Amino acid sequence: MANISLQNISKAFDYKPILKDISLHIHQGERVAIIGKNGAGKSTLLKILNGELEADYGKRILEGDLEIQMLAQKPNFQEGSTTKESVLQALTTLNQAKQSLEQIAKSLQNAPYDKELLKKHSKLSNFIEHHNAWDLENKIQQILETFDLKELENQKVEYLSGGEQKRVALACLLLIKPDILLLDEPTNHLDVEMVEFLENLLLKEKYTLVFISHDRYFIDKIATRIIEVEDCKIREFNGGYGDYLKAKEALLKSLSKSHQTLLKHLRMEEEWLARGVKARVKRNEGRKERILKLREEAKKNPSLIKKMSLELEREHKHFNQLEGTNHKKMLFELENISMQMGNKILFKNFSTRILNTDKVAIVGKNGVGKSTFLKLLLGRAQNYYGTLQKGGF
Ligand SMILES: Nc1ncnc2c1ncn2[C@@H]1O[C@H](COP(=O)(O)OP(=O)(O)O)[C@@H](O)[C@H]1O
Ligand SMILES: [Mg+2]
Repeated sequence: MANISLQNISKAFDYKPILKDISLHIHQGERVAIIGKNGAGKSTLLKILNGELEADYGKRILEGDLEIQMLAQKPNFQEGSTTKESVLQALTTLNQAKQSLEQIAKSLQNAPYDKELLKKHSKLSNFIEHHNAWDLENKIQQILETFDLKELENQKVEYLSGGEQKRVALACLLLIKPDILLLDEPTNHLDVEMVEFLENLLLKEKYTLVFISHDRYFIDKIATRIIEVEDCKIREFNGGYGDYLKAKEALLKSLSKSHQTLLKHLRMEEEWLARGVKARVKRNEGRKERILKLREEAKKNPSLIKKMSLELEREHKHFNQLEGTNHKKMLFELENISMQMGNKILFKNFSTRILNTDKVAIVGKNGVGKSTFLKLLLGRAQNYYGTLQKGGF
């Protein structure tokens, strides 16, 4: 089985460390989600996996003859190609394989026991089988239709919107079906139906995937493992998003527990120190130094624990809210929306989701911002902070 590994990878940009001494291993058949805050280094990690970006230190190891391809956060296209041409270009190898297979099949009619021909035939069949390309034409149509690309077939890709370009790139990669597919935020420009189609395709056709996503539901449905990038390090969790949250919960508990142990230990050491220590004894000096370190840690821990538990609480809320929705079509998703009119703050870090068939009443005193809220949903408000996503409708 072919695999890819990173060994002790470090990477910095302009002396700012992004990744420090990271090792990971991706097996065929896995679907690994990379999560983390903006700027944590997720895309950097994916580019290093893809081989397009070189690490400052460490090794990238490919086992076997692997084809790896990546959907970039902002894909690049050859200038001048239309959507249709781009798709056909992506499929050159597969189409060639199918043509060769046809020819070999014809030749085999005349020489049914030719060993060379039989060998080639089986190799090509396996290749096509592996890429699930027997019914390529049907798959092309299905993907173009679902991703709303049919009407863009003859348009030049360079003039399409960012979201449309990303859908074209994703369509090409899904059709190519490389041995390892790397996707940088694939669902960002997809509506609910497109995401559902993507999920089913990835699962049904058993793609090997490493993907970056902020979409908790997508992660939970797809991922067999989660890698979190934080403070230049990675932490790995088995399973989907629900499992990740449970593991984080356990981590938080053990952190709190070891903090309590540390406090107890520190208290004893402080008592020892208060009893008066003979100076200049080397052993005592060392013990004093360790006490200073313990004090530092004891000071740092509470804010770390608090930050982690707040983050976790927020994640739980989002995720449970999401699970309760039964995957109803999402119409609006607001995250940390803030808006101000003159000196008046209308919304401050307001987050909510509005789903299809929801009936939402907006109540409040005159002038608090009810109509402004509706304008926001209609896309007629510009001066807000935060993210507002609209589902496909
Ligand atoms: N080519 C580059 N040159 C300089 N800085 C970069 C480059 N690429 C990324 N960075 C910086 O490295 C950090 C991590 O970026 P990135 O991997 O894109 O994060 P993420 O994908 O997690 O949001 C960011 O601070 C970003 O500005
Ligand atoms: Mg990124």
